[in-house]
Amino acid sequence: MTRYNLEERFLHGGDYNPDQWLNYPEILAKDFELMEKARANTFSLGIFAWSALEPAEGVFEFEWLDKIMDELAERNSNVILATPSGARPAWLSKAYPEVLRTNEKREKMLHGGRHNHCFSSPIYREKVAIINRKLAERYHDHPALLMWHISNEYSGDCHCPICQENFRQWVKQKYQTLAALNEAWWGPFWSHTITDWSQIESPSPIGEMQVHGLNLDWHRFVTDQTIDFYEHEIKDIRRLSPDVPITTNFMADTRDLIPFYSLDYGKFAQHVDVISWDCYPAWHNDWGTTADLASKVGFINDQYRSLKKQPFLIMESTPSGVNWHPVNRTKRPGMHLLSSMQFIAHGSDSNLYFQWRKSRGSSEKFHGAVVDHDNDEQNRVFQDVAEVGKALEEIKEIKGLHKKAKVAIIYDWDNNWALNDAQGFGLESKRYPQTLQEHYRYFWDHDIAVDVITKDHDFDAYQLIIAPMLYLLPKETMKKFQQYTKNGGTLVSTYLTGIVNETDLTYLGGWPQELQELFGVSVKEIDTLYPKQKNLLLMKEQQYQIHDYCSVVQTNTAQTLGVYGADFYQGQAAVTVNDYGEGSAYYLGGRTDQAFLEDFYQEVTQQLRLQNEWVRQGSTNVSIQSRESQQEQLAPTTYYFVMNFSEENQEVEVATSGIDLLTGKTTNQKLQLAPYEVQIIKVTAPVQ
Ligand code: GAL
Repeated sequence: MTRYNLEERFLHGGDYNPDQWLNYPEILAKDFELMEKARANTFSLGIFAWSALEPAEGVFEFEWLDKIMDELAERNSNVILATPSGARPAWLSKAYPEVLRTNEKREKMLHGGRHNHCFSSPIYREKVAIINRKLAERYHDHPALLMWHISNEYSGDCHCPICQENFRQWVKQKYQTLAALNEAWWGPFWSHTITDWSQIESPSPIGEMQVHGLNLDWHRFVTDQTIDFYEHEIKDIRRLSPDVPITTNFMADTRDLIPFYSLDYGKFAQHVDVISWDCYPAWHNDWGTTADLASKVGFINDQYRSLKKQPFLIMESTPSGVNWHPVNRTKRPGMHLLSSMQFIAHGSDSNLYFQWRKSRGSSEKFHGAVVDHDNDEQNRVFQDVAEVGKALEEIKEIKGLHKKAKVAIIYDWDNNWALNDAQGFGLESKRYPQTLQEHYRYFWDHDIAVDVITKDHDFDAYQLIIAPMLYLLPKETMKKFQQYTKNGGTLVSTYLTGIVNETDLTYLGGWPQELQELFGVSVKEIDTLYPKQKNLLLMKEQQYQIHDYCSVVQTNTAQTLGVYGADFYQGQAAVTVNDYGEGSAYYLGGRTDQAFLEDFYQEVTQQLRLQNEWVRQGSTNVSIQSRESQQEQLAPTTYYFVMNFSEENQEVEVATSGIDLLTGKTTNQKLQLAPYEVQIIKVTAPVQ
């Protein structure tokens, strides 16, 4: 059942913390005045408000929240109401120390910070259930309530005795017998045979972390346990407000915006009604071009759209800078509108901010906000936000529309965890998520839509599936790949594929038979290069550089497309293609430079007719993404977001004219874009 999509308009607004300002009535009054001016319509409330809602155990104060919610309802604004479990009141930690998290070194944390509770603690669960139920009872039919925001950025793990016991139960449930467990975890290695379930302990840096099956299962357990906590949180909420959608805000990792490491969001996505996430790119950095970063933002937004195959929400972003990047730059003029429209272009139905108003004290007092300490609507950031609010109104008809992709890239959490553990190959050079981003880059540069899916998604929807470095590859997925290719799909795989099974045990007897049949090759060896060492790929009179990895393969039915230029495998196949059923399976044996990926994918996309037909002459600095109207009986309409991610003027040529929704003007086929400019062009005549 899809509960999502209750609003006609894009959501614009963000985290609002009136609980910090209850002693400042003039500030609260000013907030409402400014909200209208910023064209903000949606506010996330109560995320960290537990101590304001329950100042002492069993003593509840909702009047302040009633007032805010009523006022917002009166102004036709939405509330995304949070459960406050992300940060608990001091009285709770004091009275029930078991709620505090124990870290992997088995040290009990003290009260402080946030996002640091034990997911197993029965007392924490009970206290959370009480406050959540009270919120649901009081607000389930409040006219402002649009959605539930469960906790905040679930993350981390707890290693307390209760969690250890839960982990043991989880493991027992999974393996049933010690014999099966020891087989899966390869028990006899370094004498790690488990002879009683009680011997199982979560991985710890002060203990043993070399049992890879155990590490992998711990990651899976942490995901399951976090989802279980989330399910516990929503029980009464779902019962009391069955039609109000529920979300929890997801994240991405590092400055490169790679998929979040520690939770399998592919699994978690199945438990939320709509995906929402918090996106904080370091625009204007000193390590890459604006387009480099924009393509990474594109990748991760595509992942969040693809996980549920529906529009998602940007739950948090910043109107200016953040406070936690090593250097916190503010957005240059134009960047706020551009970066906000990029979210929409990839399938977001919102642009929400952290934070509405800058906090007065503590660590986030200098974090970007819609309203600064100056309280001034004339300041540049406020004006930028108001401009985005206006733009979202102008493009209202795009809200809820889908984005179609015929190309998919597979990202797999199990694989990332196992590969990260693997003691072998280049310890620093695996870079699995970054490699996916490199493959993705061709499609971003050429304005071809991509879904970022998991191995559990339906493959048949795609003409091209790119599945690099699936080191952990269950037989079931191999069979799925076979079926997909047999039915006419094109599959691209690479070095470091198909080496271990789902419990991180290597396949015996050579490269798996299923893969040999599919790719028509057999991988014999994987050579690992030092960072300064290179090999060459010779293909069609061209020469490309290979670094980090070279698989030495024996070709069987596959056709060799390119060969290595050096070393003991000089002249042997480095790139192959195999006809398999109605489709083709490519194997890229070496890790190549971007120039090869550019030429390779150009050919593949041409063969499959996957190029963006609307773009006659594009630019790698200008990203063009679209959302399409699928309404029956109406002429199909496509909305093209043409975005200049560079500091220079750009020109692109497109197939048809249209109407720029931001200016109302008719565009012609040559589009001129100023630095950071975005145009959103509505084209009603479909391009054949
Ligand atoms: C998020 C968090 C917010 C705020 C923000 C700052 O990770 O959910 O509460 O701290 O970061 O960028």
